[in-house]
Amino acid sequence: MKAEFEKDSRRLYGELAWLWPIMSSPEEYAEESELFSQTIKAHSKIEARTLLHLGCGGGMNDYTFKKHFQVTGVDISEEMLKLARKLNPEIRYVNGDMRTIQLGECFDAVIALDSINYMRTPGDLRSVFQTAYEHLNPDGVFLIIAEETAEKFKQNRTMSSCHFQGDVELVFIENIYDPDPVDTSFEATFVYLIRRKGELEMYIDRHLLGVFDIDTWHNLLRRVGFEIEQMKFEHSTFSKEEYLPMLVCVKPF
Ligand SMILES: C[S@@+](CC[C@H](N)C(=O)[O-])C[C@H]1O[C@@H](n2cnc3c(N)ncnc32)[C@H](O)[C@@H]1O
Repeated sequence: MKAEFEKDSRRLYGELAWLWPIMSSPEEYAEESELFSQTIKAHSKIEARTLLHLGCGGGMNDYTFKKHFQVTGVDISEEMLKLARKLNPEIRYVNGDMRTIQLGECFDAVIALDSINYMRTPGDLRSVFQTAYEHLNPDGVFLIIAEETAEKFKQNRTMSSCHFQGDVELVFIENIYDPDPVDTSFEATFVYLIRRKGELEMYIDRHLLGVFDIDTWHNLLRRVGFEIEQMKFEHSTFSKEEYLPMLVCVKPF
């Protein structure tokens, strides 16, 4: 039997957003958020006091960012923003698309992390870079992580994890697959097994994401006007010698 599922359902950021604080925690995001904050400060030619976070999700990173900056978060999902506001009531959160939003103000730094994975064409990626450029003060830093690159993409990967909170038990299974390696899009299929007081509920969710070679990232950033330094983002949960490209981009004065 062949089951048909919606191509890009993103239920995790909609009806299933309540699972996000069960699957993740501010503590899990603290190490990377601290490193990103220090990297921004070290590379800024101005004092970095304000930070715009594009695609802030449920605010897990912001929980640490707010110790260093006055943060403004933007996300396309109102359900994720609701979680972020609960976790960080002192932060201003705005509903919007990172490709098109125009806040009419500039920040000392801009960051886009796992949300940038949702850009599926070079045009979308460039639009986010343009948004960052237009919202950044001269000499400010735009920091991004290229989590998936064509050079390192591993076909048909599956990860699973178990999470518990109160009377909810969650088994989360994630499969990454690229049905057409020629284009710049791939699929993440999520399976959620949720047991509440022993009663099982099952959900399937598909997310369409983007994968580009690292030169595309560099070329698009340069065309928008950024000066780029590529660094290695390493984390205590990565295996030895594993890293992700971290692009530290400065808007020239
Ligand atoms: C994995 S979550 C981010 C989680 C986040 N790191 C946190 O601290 O909770 C990815 C987020 O990207 C957002 N997103 C995807 N496409 C977007 C777009 N075009 N504009 C703004 N946000 C977007 C989703 O709504 C989702 O909240």
